[in-house]
Amino acid sequence: MREYYPLLLGGGIIGLISIVLIVAYASIKDKKQAIGFDRHMKDGEIIRRLLAYAKPYVWHFVLVGVIVIAGIAYDIISPIIIGNITKLINTDFALAKLFRLVAVYAGILIVSMVCTYAQAIILQRIGQKIISGMREDLFTHIESLSHEQMNSIPVGKLVTRVTNDTNAISLMFTSLLVNLVKNVFIIVGVFAAMLALNVELTLMVLCFVPFIVLFTVIFRKFARRAYRKVKDRTTDINTYLSENLSGIKITQIFNREDEKLRDFSEKSRGLGKAKREQILVFGIFRPLVYMLYISSVLALFYLGGKGHLDGASFLGRAIEASTIVSFYMYINKFFNPIQNLAEQFNWLQSAFASAEKVFTIMDIEPALKDAEDAIELENVRGEIEFRDVWFSYIPGEWVLKGVSFRVDPGETVAFVGPTGSGKTTILSLICRNYEFQKGEILIDGIDIRKIKAASLRKHFGQMLQDVFLFSGTIRSNILLDMDGVSDEEVMEACRYVNADHFIDRLENGLDEIVRERGNNFSAGQRQLLSFARTIIHKPEVMILDEATANIDTETEVLIQDSLEKMMNIGTMLIVAHRLSTIQHADNIIVLSKGEIVEQGTHQELLNLHGKYHALYMLQFEKEKQRLGE
Ligand SMILES: Nc1ncnc2c1ncn2[C@@H]1O[C@H](COP(=O)(O)OP(=O)(O)OP(=O)(O)O)[C@@H](O)[C@H]1O
Ligand SMILES: [Mg+2]
Repeated sequence: MREYYPLLLGGGIIGLISIVLIVAYASIKDKKQAIGFDRHMKDGEIIRRLLAYAKPYVWHFVLVGVIVIAGIAYDIISPIIIGNITKLINTDFALAKLFRLVAVYAGILIVSMVCTYAQAIILQRIGQKIISGMREDLFTHIESLSHEQMNSIPVGKLVTRVTNDTNAISLMFTSLLVNLVKNVFIIVGVFAAMLALNVELTLMVLCFVPFIVLFTVIFRKFARRAYRKVKDRTTDINTYLSENLSGIKITQIFNREDEKLRDFSEKSRGLGKAKREQILVFGIFRPLVYMLYISSVLALFYLGGKGHLDGASFLGRAIEASTIVSFYMYINKFFNPIQNLAEQFNWLQSAFASAEKVFTIMDIEPALKDAEDAIELENVRGEIEFRDVWFSYIPGEWVLKGVSFRVDPGETVAFVGPTGSGKTTILSLICRNYEFQKGEILIDGIDIRKIKAASLRKHFGQMLQDVFLFSGTIRSNILLDMDGVSDEEVMEACRYVNADHFIDRLENGLDEIVRERGNNFSAGQRQLLSFARTIIHKPEVMILDEATANIDTETEVLIQDSLEKMMNIGTMLIVAHRLSTIQHADNIIVLSKGEIVEQGTHQELLNLHGKYHALYMLQFEKEKQRLGE
């Protein structure tokens, strides 16, 4: 009995550590908001939808399965070969035999390496294909959402869905699934091999398994907690940074640098603390798990060695030195996959959580769907009619209250009115950026709800209030991926809208780089570019929401001039802030709080001495003052 004391002592220490860990585990409260727990979709549904993406590659996966099993052979067979080599060295040594064993070992090793390589290549290929498909589906779906829906989802969230979440899913296809399968096979294979070699030693190894599982599970909880803290703190810093870097000019203007620094260093220290906690967790658990491994090896040497020396183990079977060597190798190969499995289930959870988020976006029904019998508009004359149109962004808060007007083909109609009166809203409805609730909008006598949205937009050129330029070049911003247009035609459009004046002065002309959101161009220049962009797409109806931003007098003259030219192209609807722009309009509609209060030509409205007249006089006075200065 005495000779088993060392084993009992080791067991006691491990037991004690386990109890401490269990107590620690029970004492921390882990919110269940951990990755993968806040799910609403059933696992079954997520798996079904993921499989639908993987389906075209089913044979690739089968092939990978076969390769994986072939690759595992190394893990199972190599310890036996090494055992045999030990036996050979201990008993009747012969160089030829040794060479044969080494050759077999090398052969298996090479096969296994080739298999691992092939498996990685195939999986990466199909994994990336699956994920590209999914990413593109997601992007297409996002593009189909209406303006209203896009307003309600933060852009940052969509970006994360398209990049990070699809990445997590791709990880599942490229490594997780295969490793899960591989680990299960290895565990089963190694266990069978050990059992065949020696039952007693296998039992001894099994004694350690519950502790390995226990340690790993507890470690996972602590690690996840620490990981989440680090992630939260990092997000904190990132959000703070991105907001404050964008607003840094304001900080400087108001001398708030010190206060901002204080906020920032607090967040920065928070992140440091979280990182330290993470390192501590790893620092405690890695050695603990290693200790378990070492204990099992020591137990093996002790029990095995004793059995070997005594000629029989405690169950009365002979143990050879080669068996001990093989077991020594098996222990490592057995414990590793057990630890990995726990980790991989965790990753699988987070991949599922990502998948759910991606699918949730895909499940958002586009608010704007073409009716079944929607028609394609071939030619547009440009007749537009509003019949008692009511519209609200937020249910109950009417922004347009019974708006009716009519625009004949080729006419120019202008909308004026105080800020928030609904001018931009009217223009958005014509292009079906939003769906109106009551009334009718007719284009050439056809209800716009019966026209395909895409075909509607093809004939309508919209120039929005806040001009958006993409990063790229002047040319790419004017063409927006339109094919078959020569530089000459682009320049012609620019000349038409007077954008050539400033483009000619640029060092690289049409190739001049446009930075993010076009921030290296002035508001007036951006507006002229948006005119050129519209003209080149040759719309029948032009819709212009004039920018409110201050524009220098020189550019203003250019804009005026190009507007007058554009009015001759076709029907034009224009929201103007400078009344001088619209003096020649065929009809001017004056809005107030979502209702039309006056309409007529410039002269008619002036004679009316109403709202328009007041507005005009106000601007006239201002202009006089400005010129007087
Ligand atoms: N996306 C939106 N969601 C909710 N309310 C909105 C939205 N866009 C505009 N509104 C509201 O609708 C009303 C009309 O806005 P609209 O943009 O049509 O005004 P506008 O006449 O173009 O003003 P401005 O001269 O300042 O451009 C405003 O009261 C505004 O608060
Ligand atoms: Mg507006």
